[in-house]
Amino acid sequence: MANRRIVCLPGDGIGPEVTAQAVRVLRALPLELELDERPFGGGAIDAHGEPLPPETLAACRDCDAVLLGAVGGPKWDGAPVRPEAGLLRLRKELDVYANLRPAVGDGVDLIIVRELVGGLYFGPRGTRDDGTVFDTCEYHPSQVERIARRGFELARSRSGRLLSVDKANVLDTSRMWRRVVSGLAGDYPEVELAHGLVDSVAMNLVTDADAFDVIVTENMFGDILSDVAAGVTGGLGLASSASLGDGGPGIFEPVHGSAPDIAGRGIANPTAMLRSLALLLEHGLGEPVLARAVEAAVAAAAEQAPTVDVGGSASTAEFGDAALASLQVTVG
Ligand code: NAD
Ligand code: IPM
Ligand code: MN
Repeated sequence: MANRRIVCLPGDGIGPEVTAQAVRVLRALPLELELDERPFGGGAIDAHGEPLPPETLAACRDCDAVLLGAVGGPKWDGAPVRPEAGLLRLRKELDVYANLRPAVGDGVDLIIVRELVGGLYFGPRGTRDDGTVFDTCEYHPSQVERIARRGFELARSRSGRLLSVDKANVLDTSRMWRRVVSGLAGDYPEVELAHGLVDSVAMNLVTDADAFDVIVTENMFGDILSDVAAGVTGGLGLASSASLGDGGPGIFEPVHGSAPDIAGRGIANPTAMLRSLALLLEHGLGEPVLARAVEAAVAAAAEQAPTVDVGGSASTAEFGDAALASLQVTVG
């Protein structure tokens, strides 16, 4: 097997702290690797004047998978170009439209399939002469179809239930979304499709998360619901994600951000990042056995060295030590 090329984008805040632990674990795996670390986010704005320098983008296009920490922070909040713009552009350039966000724990095992390169994040925006500021939500039916098919396929491989979430009682984009998703149901007779409105689904996620399995939804709703799902399954320190396109490199990153409130203290929970590494091994490199080994090591570390956010006292590096120690047992 040829060398696997992983581009690593640690980013800002706790991004580099948690990424360092994932890199330690990655290097301990029996894989021939080329790890290419690149500037991205606020640090790239400072060093190169833009959050996604052309060399970083070129490296990401030409690799097997991108491992990403987090970007952003108060330092750049007022900047003309924000770190987050680099993240959005990278997702768009790689066309990673399917963002899988599992939420597992406390009897809950659900996954949100979030559309990632359309909707309110990418529609026309601007300021009118009278000072009105606008962002617009646009979807083409083909964008809905491709993400909905991902949802159906995932549902078919799990419980056979798919919940499509929209705001069809108000929005035209949601009415089209619902029509397109319903129109595909005939292609997946083994999947039971239901529709939900985002406001009540948000409440039910808080009160009854264990009743959910696969949720498919548009970009903005998926962003918000995935933080809710993280909240009911142990917090943002645990929530991983995989952003996939149709064959090109995927991006594997935690759901959380750069956590400026704890950055620099070495106490961030690297679980979300390590679980994202497991998703990279599974979906990005086609190594499910190694993915399971990393998940098992993370579960062991969570027992032995819990971090502050989940009620423990271990540092980020101590968690990584525990994961590595148990990974040697599992793999080696
Ligand atoms: P955040 O996710 O960074 O933090 C929210 C809360 O969760 C904070 O209290 C933080 O300390 C805690 N938290 C997050 N990750 C943790 C971890 N691994 N271990 C322990 N605690 C953790 O959200 P925010 O504060 O709203 O955003 C901060 C910055 O991050 C903003 O600039 C935002 O745009 C950016 N952001 C980036 C990404 C990304 O790069 N993918 C995602 C979300 C937010
Ligand atoms: C996420 C983040 C990003 C998003 C931001 C940082 C652009 O919140 O990955 O959930 O909204 O998609
Ligand atoms: Mn988010």
